[in-house]
Amino acid sequence: MAVKIAPSLLAADFSRLGEEVTRVAPAIDWLHLDVMDGHFVPNISFGIPVIEALRAVTDVFFDCHIMTTNPDAYLPELAKAGINQASMHIEAIPDPSRAMKRARDNGLDFGLAMSPGTPFDSVAPFVEDCEVLVVMSVEPGYGGQSFDANVLPKIESAREWVESHGLGADIQVDGGITPENAGKVISAGATVLVAGTAVFRDDDPLRAVHALRRAAETDE
Ligand code: DX5
Ligand code: ZN
Repeated sequence: MAVKIAPSLLAADFSRLGEEVTRVAPAIDWLHLDVMDGHFVPNISFGIPVIEALRAVTDVFFDCHIMTTNPDAYLPELAKAGINQASMHIEAIPDPSRAMKRARDNGLDFGLAMSPGTPFDSVAPFVEDCEVLVVMSVEPGYGGQSFDANVLPKIESAREWVESHGLGADIQVDGGITPENAGKVISAGATVLVAGTAVFRDDDPLRAVHALRRAAETDE
């Protein structure tokens, strides 16, 4: 399966977001958009008007990682602003059925995310209804943290579940991804790599995207 690269806007230069996005867009699969509310996580990032403004400058797939309490409350507005997929944390919606339905009603792909301490079992019953599973390899809230290798077995469990049940969900790994750990993460079973710092804090983000893809496609 081809690896998808999803740079996280959180590490981009917020004074020139349009340029940052259009520069990498031709080389990326998804743009990862971290929406935070200062409540579910101790940080506030950006929201609907910023996403809407970016949608006007690119057609790239918008993968929205919602780190808020009541994550499904703004799905209609987020969909209208132009997101294509909404991932929500199982810690915020232990019963994800309403959120799932709301995502579908708004024409969105649906994902469930797990923080590092949350076991795979918590999402297992819902994987068949997900387009993506998000295994967080850092505590949600901030970019620039180091990858936690303790999540590798969780990536393996997710891959095993998806394969043994004949499902199509992507397995996304989010947090501290670099060309150094990309191969290991893909070997464990990931299909989507999120990378903020490794892409947007590089002097040449486009080159950084290619470097990540090369590293991901070179098995460990
Ligand atoms: C953290 C976010 C991540 C973050 C990744 O809460 O979900 O998407 O932006 O950034 P890096 O790649 O810098 O760890
Ligand atoms: Zn994220």
